[in-house]
Amino acid sequence: MRVLAVGGATLDIINRVTAFPDEDDELRAAAQRQCRGGNATNTLVVLTQLGHHCSWAGTLGDDAASRVIMSDLQQYGVDTEWVTIQPGGVTPTSHIITSQATGSRTIIHYRDLPEYRIEAFEKIDLNNYDWIHFEGREVPAYEAMLRHARLTPHSATISLEIEKPREGIERLAAMADIVILAKAYASSQGFERAQDLFDSIRSRAESAMLFATWGVEGAWLQTVAGDTLHVPAYHPPEVIDTLGAGDVFNAGVIDGLLAASDPAAVLCNAVRLAGEKCGHRGLRIA
Ligand code: FRU
Repeated sequence: MRVLAVGGATLDIINRVTAFPDEDDELRAAAQRQCRGGNATNTLVVLTQLGHHCSWAGTLGDDAASRVIMSDLQQYGVDTEWVTIQPGGVTPTSHIITSQATGSRTIIHYRDLPEYRIEAFEKIDLNNYDWIHFEGREVPAYEAMLRHARLTPHSATISLEIEKPREGIERLAAMADIVILAKAYASSQGFERAQDLFDSIRSRAESAMLFATWGVEGAWLQTVAGDTLHVPAYHPPEVIDTLGAGDVFNAGVIDGLLAASDPAAVLCNAVRLAGEKCGHRGLRIA
């Protein structure tokens, strides 16, 4: 199936340490690697491995980091026709510490690059896609794109990821068929239970299927009819690297729903895919 995702790409500079440092510590990394990251593109490289034809709509600077990102996407077969290269722009970076002791990932993200613009998005023929996924970012830009996607005739399903709090981001939920909420967002809003999170979002997204990732506790979904399901986390034999696990979950949800699997099976498979990812480094799937 054909999937378009709108959102970010970054250059990830990943330092692996045996244990997370204290503030003002100095320590030597056990290993370092640089690679492409960013939620939307992470989701797409998993979807291409699951057999989908994927396109990315996003912005990059015109620098060395952007060439690393473009070449990685091309290696995975992700179409980059809709990418905007910002003249003089600087590609976003994430300095990431992954801890061998726990598998945790701590991210310092830097971004000084304009968001993807509605004018670029309007040029895309949405009829060419079965699924359009938005990584919920700067609200005015994404609101304009989601509105356009909602009002243009096409038969694609529209999904939205809400990972972090942003002023007014809940407004975007009304325009999506599928909303995937992350625990970081839930915690920022003071929700300790997925059910409370669903209750709060439901009035803004009356006809959406809702998903919520809950870290080691697994994930939840609520159907449009209001039935709630929970699947416990899948634990790999050893937790090696959790970086991008949420993005892999999103790919699992999109893949499952494109295959028209029933909601419980979709949730189980997405949790399993994300859990398996934590058992190894990077986003290659078996
Ligand atoms: C993982 C990730 C990283 C990126 C960061 C951006 O989910 O996409 O690859 O650096 O999050 O917020």
